[in-house]
Amino acid sequence: MLITVPELLTPAEVGHCRTVLRRAAWVDGRTTAGPITAVVKANRQVDPTSREAIECGEVILAALHRSAEFLSAALPLRILPPMFNAYGPGERFGIHVDNAIRNAPGSRERIRTDVSTTVFLSEPDEYEGGELTVETPFGVQSVKLAAGHAVVYPSTSLHEVTPVTAGERLASFFWTQSMIRDEGERSLLFDLDQAIQDLRDARGEDDPHAMRLSFVYHNLVRRWAET
Ligand code: NI
Repeated sequence: MLITVPELLTPAEVGHCRTVLRRAAWVDGRTTAGPITAVVKANRQVDPTSREAIECGEVILAALHRSAEFLSAALPLRILPPMFNAYGPGERFGIHVDNAIRNAPGSRERIRTDVSTTVFLSEPDEYEGGELTVETPFGVQSVKLAAGHAVVYPSTSLHEVTPVTAGERLASFFWTQSMIRDEGERSLLFDLDQAIQDLRDARGEDDPHAMRLSFVYHNLVRRWAET
């Protein structure tokens, strides 16, 4: 399941993060890659322990917690601090799979990466190339979204960022450990939750059928969730 979250960040939040990130220290993206992915990775990242990364990360985390769509899709147990990357001409991140286990920067805490998120901070007309392509059971999906929009996809997927040929692609990316480890179960819960919400919108908050489906939803979460 690959879902997009439109307008996760407001235009003001995008502008603020871009201003802050402009004065951050950027390092070679290979510093956070394993030996296998380092071969296919050519980009720049903000030092995740820097003041700028932490400040912008907090903007993004606050936005995630007010996004019903993100929360419904990811069912987060823990979210690693958002990181930031940039791709200019000739930079790319060839096809790879993200590490299953990651440490929070500067901590011994480890999380299992279940859900990957990219938040676009550049507008699509600011750069050429730089599509995020994700292999899904229904073929390769190519994603390039407006600034402030996000894409959420299973961390189990093979994916790449195609070479940027002009301009600069600025984005945030991070991983979530979900309460629902299994992608199939997580996807069913997302669809059920969306259907309940649609039913409530159409028939009112007190619709008895929506209530009955909500009972099913919460009891499935009880059966499947790790907390
Ligand atoms: Ni990746």
